[in-house]
Amino acid sequence: CGIIARIGGDDDSAVDELLTGLENLEYRGYDSAGLAIKNGGGPEVFKRQGEISHLKDALADEVPDGGLGIGHTRWSTHGPPSDANAHPHTDCTGEVAVVHNGIIENYDELKAGLRARGHAFESDTDTEVIPHLVEERLAAGADPETAFRETIEKLSGSYAVAMITKHDHAVYATRRGSPLVLGVDDGEYFLASDVPAFLDFTDDVVYLDDGDVVIVKPDGHRISTTEGETVERSVQTVEWDPEDAGKGGYDHYMLKEIHEQPAALRQTLRGRADPTTGDIDLEDFPAGTFEDVERVQFVACGTSYHAGLVGAQFLSSGGVPAQAFLASEYATSQPPVDEGTLVVGVTQSGETADTLSALRRANASGARTLAVTNVVGSTAARECDDALFIRAGPEIGVAATKTFSSQVVSLGLLAERMVRDVTGSRTDDARARLEALSDLPGHVQQILDYTSARRVAENYRDSEAYFFIGRGTVRPVALEGALKFKEISYEHAEGFAAGELKHGPLALVTPETPIFAVFTGRNDEKTLGNVKEAEARGAPVVAVASDGQESVHQYADEVLTIPDTHPDVAGVLANVQLQLLSYHAADLLDRSIDKPRNLAKSVTVE
Ligand code: G6P
Repeated sequence: CGIIARIGGDDDSAVDELLTGLENLEYRGYDSAGLAIKNGGGPEVFKRQGEISHLKDALADEVPDGGLGIGHTRWSTHGPPSDANAHPHTDCTGEVAVVHNGIIENYDELKAGLRARGHAFESDTDTEVIPHLVEERLAAGADPETAFRETIEKLSGSYAVAMITKHDHAVYATRRGSPLVLGVDDGEYFLASDVPAFLDFTDDVVYLDDGDVVIVKPDGHRISTTEGETVERSVQTVEWDPEDAGKGGYDHYMLKEIHEQPAALRQTLRGRADPTTGDIDLEDFPAGTFEDVERVQFVACGTSYHAGLVGAQFLSSGGVPAQAFLASEYATSQPPVDEGTLVVGVTQSGETADTLSALRRANASGARTLAVTNVVGSTAARECDDALFIRAGPEIGVAATKTFSSQVVSLGLLAERMVRDVTGSRTDDARARLEALSDLPGHVQQILDYTSARRVAENYRDSEAYFFIGRGTVRPVALEGALKFKEISYEHAEGFAAGELKHGPLALVTPETPIFAVFTGRNDEKTLGNVKEAEARGAPVVAVASDGQESVHQYADEVLTIPDTHPDVAGVLANVQLQLLSYHAADLLDRSIDKPRNLAKSVTVE
C-alpha cells in the first residue's frame, strides 16, 4: 500500500497534489484509492475501488477545497478490494480519518473489544480499529496528539499510519516496520511511503526512524519518540529524476523487486510460523482443514508452475500424494479427480486464463479448489473454494521474481499444514525447516549484498547457449533459472534434471555452453557426477552452492555462493542468485528487461 499526506494552509487545494502523489505510488498497490480533505470542519472522505483514475473521475465534478489531507492507494491484505475497504477509514463520528500501510496483527482482539463497547464497523480491514480507538480516547477528553499516541501503543504488527481529525489543522503520523518519509518545502509538507510520491513538489527529505511520531502543521513539524521525547532528524536533499524514481532509484522494476525480497518474505511469513514451537498459523486454515484430502494436484503456468513443482515435492516427501501440472495441459487432458482431490492453482496474478480454466474443470469434476495468489480479490481467489495469499506486494516487472520466492515459502507452510492434517504428524524435521524459513529474509539480504552475478554474467556473455541443472527440490529452480534467462536476455537457455543431462542434452554441450549447476546439500555427489560429465566435454561450470560444499568448489570454474541452510530452503536462495545472473546478462545486452518482447505480465487468453 502507499500513503501520502499533504500539509499546507487552509486557503489552497491539496487534492491535486495528493492525486499526483497517489499516481506516483500506484506501483505499491492499485486495487483501490482514496483521500480525506480538511477544510475547516471534519475530514471529507472520497474513496473508490479500482485504479486511481476511478477516484479522479469521482472527484471530477466536485473538487473539495482544503490545504490539508491524506491519501492512500491500496494493496489488499485484509478484505477484498471494495469502496468500503478502501482507505481512509473513519470512526463512528466521522471526525477522525486514518490511512495505514502494513498489518495490525492484533486487530481481531482490538475489534472485538471495540464492538463490545458499541462501535460499528464498515469494512473488513485491520486498519479500521485505529480511528475507533482514537475516537474513544478523544471522547475521554484526550487531545488529538495524546489520543494518537495512546492508540498506537495498543497496536502490534507493522505499520505506517497517518491521521487527521476535525479538532485541529495537523497530520499525526508514525511508522514501525513500514516506510514513511517527510518532504519539506516552503510553507508545505508531505508525508509518504517513499520519496518519489512527492518528488514533483520537493526534493528535501527527512527520513523517519521506526518508532518516530511526527506531528506536521503548515508552519512546522515536530518529531518525537514513542515516549514523547523530541528528536532531531536532518533534512537531506535527494538528487533523483522523478521519472526514474518510481523504481526507487533502481534502473529497472525487476532489479527493485529482486531487492524487495527480504521485505516481501518477511511479510509472507509474518505471524504464520513459529520455529521455536514448530507451530503453523495459516489464518483461514486451522489444524484439521485438510484432513479429508487424499491427493493434491497443482495447476499453474510459467514461473508459478515451477513453484507448484516445489510444492508437490514438499507434500510427497511428507507422505501426501501430490503432482504438479501445467495448467494448459490439465485443461485438455485432466487426470482423474474426486472429492478427495484438492486442486491448488498457483498464480501470482490470479487472472491467468489457462490456470483459471484448469481450476474450473477441476471444480466441475467435484474437486475442492484452493488459490495460492498474490492478488486479493482476483478471479482465482474469488472462484476457488479457498485462497491463501502470498503477500509479496505488487510486482510490475513482467518476469516474476519476488512472487516466486513468496510462493515457494507459502507452499512450504501450506505443505506442512497439510502433512500434519493428513498424516497426523509433523514432517520429520519441521522445526529445522521453519527455522530456515525464518532466516530466509536475512539470508537473501546477504546474497544481495555480496553477489558476484554481474561478473559471472560478463564472463559468459558471448556463449552459444546456457544450461541449468538441478535435482530434487532444485530441479524446478534449474527450470526457473533457464526460464528467467531466456525471458529477459533472449538468449537460448534450457533447464534440465541433472540426471537427464546424459540422456540427450549432453549432445548440445560444448565449451561454448556454460552449465549452471544448483546444489542444496542433499544428493550433491550425484549432481557433481553430472557436472563432471559436462566438464569432460569442455563446458565451463558455474555452481550455485554454499561455502561449506568444498567438493563442489573444487570442480566449479565459478561459484555463486548462498548461505548454508536447510536443503529444502536452499532453492529459494539459489534462485535469487540466478535471478541476478539473468538480470545482469540481459542488462549487458541492453534488453527491455521490465517488458520483454512478446511477453505479458498476465496472460488472459488460453
Ligand atoms: C505469464 C508471465 C509469467 C508468469 C505466468 C503465470 O506468462 O509472463 O512470468 O509466470 O504468466 O502467471 P501467474 O500470474 O498465473 O502466476
